[in-house]
Amino acid sequence: MNKKLQLISGRGLAVIAKYLIGGFVLSSLIACGSGSSVSEPILIKFPHVTSPTTPKGLAAQRFRDLVEERLAGRVTVEVYPSGQLMNDDDSIEALAFGEVQMIATSLSKFDRLTNKFQVFDLPFLFPDLEAVERFQAGASREILLESMSLRGLKGLGFWHNGMKQFGGPVPMNNPEAAKGLKFRIMESDVLQAQILAIGGSPQKMAFVEVYQALQTGAVDAQENTWSNIYSSKFYEVQKHLTMTNHGYLGYLIAVNPSFWSGLPDDIRTELETIVSEVSSWANQQAKLINKDGLEKIIASGRTEVTPLTDQELKVWQQTMRPVWDKFADKIGVDIIAEAQGASN
Ligand code: LMR
Repeated sequence: MNKKLQLISGRGLAVIAKYLIGGFVLSSLIACGSGSSVSEPILIKFPHVTSPTTPKGLAAQRFRDLVEERLAGRVTVEVYPSGQLMNDDDSIEALAFGEVQMIATSLSKFDRLTNKFQVFDLPFLFPDLEAVERFQAGASREILLESMSLRGLKGLGFWHNGMKQFGGPVPMNNPEAAKGLKFRIMESDVLQAQILAIGGSPQKMAFVEVYQALQTGAVDAQENTWSNIYSSKFYEVQKHLTMTNHGYLGYLIAVNPSFWSGLPDDIRTELETIVSEVSSWANQQAKLINKDGLEKIIASGRTEVTPLTDQELKVWQQTMRPVWDKFADKIGVDIIAEAQGASN
């Protein structure tokens, strides 16, 4: 386990508690107008790992622009795309310790802090983004958003990227083709189990390292969305991409609970309104950007894109289904049932 995440999930809780209390006192003072910092704009540092042209990159910029427009002089947002400030694991830790104020990290990467988010990684649970949206708007929404508040993270909302596809040296119309291949995956035990279920060898790796790992042959294969495969040029170093749509990739917009509760009420309310507006916009954009990414990948002629037949899809679903049983108790059968309800 990443040392820093271990810190958050283990003995670091005490440190975070100290920070939360200290942060609360500090931010309360600011909120009450004590001290000279009252006239300084509040700074929101917002690091993320994808390029500015991805669904998340565009959403982060829109968030910054709307804040600039509506809270000019009171709040400043600095967006750091493409992992230029830090990678995702570091950003989760930095948020908990108050070094950055907002993140939009893949749901998969929180699996050391809450088992509940593992529901999003279950293969072939959500057939499309509409099903995910219904689930994210349902009864479990607040439970999910608040599930890490004791670990220094408060969820404000969800942004989509899209459905994941497999890429590798061979077409993967049948899971048999994946046997023995080394797959890059995100930091998620569900994704690890998913690759083991198809006989592959899972390698957890930061997003910014994937292109080079594919290029040098450190890994053979990967799973990601069309927009990430296109914007990070994975298609240039993958002979084949198979349209499996086997899993969902989306983000949690998270802030530090102490930072958030310490904001002046009117600012917090306006920021919540902006996050909600940006989320609706971003989720529409994500569908278009993924479609565009797929079209551009096909047009490039650099890789071969293969669809699955209905029969091939069934074989994939059956092969990966045992992963659900492995994680059902940890995630909670009620949450999985709700996600299934949203998917039918
Ligand atoms: C990945 O690591 O593949 C994704 O989490 C990248 C992203 O933020 O979309």
